[in-house]
Amino acid sequence: MAKTLIAFYSRRGQNYVDGSIRNLEKGNNEVIVEKIKALLPDADVFQIDTVKKYSPDYMVCIEEAKEELRAKARPQLTAKVENMDQYDTIILGYPNWWGLPPMAIFTFLESYDFSGKTIVPFCSHEGSGLGGSIRQINMAAPGAKFTAGVAIHGAAASHCDREVKQIIAQAE
Ligand SMILES: Cc1cc2nc3c(=O)[nH]c(=O)nc-3n(C[C@H](O)[C@H](O)[C@H](O)COP(=O)(O)O)c2cc1C
Repeated sequence: MAKTLIAFYSRRGQNYVDGSIRNLEKGNNEVIVEKIKALLPDADVFQIDTVKKYSPDYMVCIEEAKEELRAKARPQLTAKVENMDQYDTIILGYPNWWGLPPMAIFTFLESYDFSGKTIVPFCSHEGSGLGGSIRQINMAAPGAKFTAGVAIHGAAASHCDREVKQIIAQAE
């Protein structure tokens, strides 16, 4: 039977939250994914992570991310999804970094054939919404069908039940 995969990137450490820098023990997308998983218990969860970690210092991390964006980097990931064929729907979560997903999302999308699959994107942010992410991830996974996607204010990750329901509705 076709299944759903929830794949996400999330970074712990200092981040920009409602105008000030705070330390997040758990990344916003990680919190959101726990909420999705609670409503979709049969879905598998895969954390997209890079071999080389970003600095936990927000000001350093934004410069690292900017440099990777400029270089169109494809950072190496720590793991691969076993048997992507078994999934017909992929819920894909990521933060907005400089208006786009982290480059790790492009490494992920370019590692598999998503033809015929549905990808439901969601993006947590601090004001920029989905940014230009939908157009860019569309180009990185030709053949996939993308839903409209859902933007979630990262600072509100712990109480984003309405947006989580929108994600699940797009996955159905
Ligand atoms: C490197 C970096 C760049 C960011 N750039 C933006 C941005 O351009 N626009 C925005 O709204 N938020 C930006 N943010 C804030 C994050 O998108 C937001 O805090 C998100 O919820 C983080 O998710 P995470 O904790 O799961 O990694 C940036 C954060 C970082 C660390």
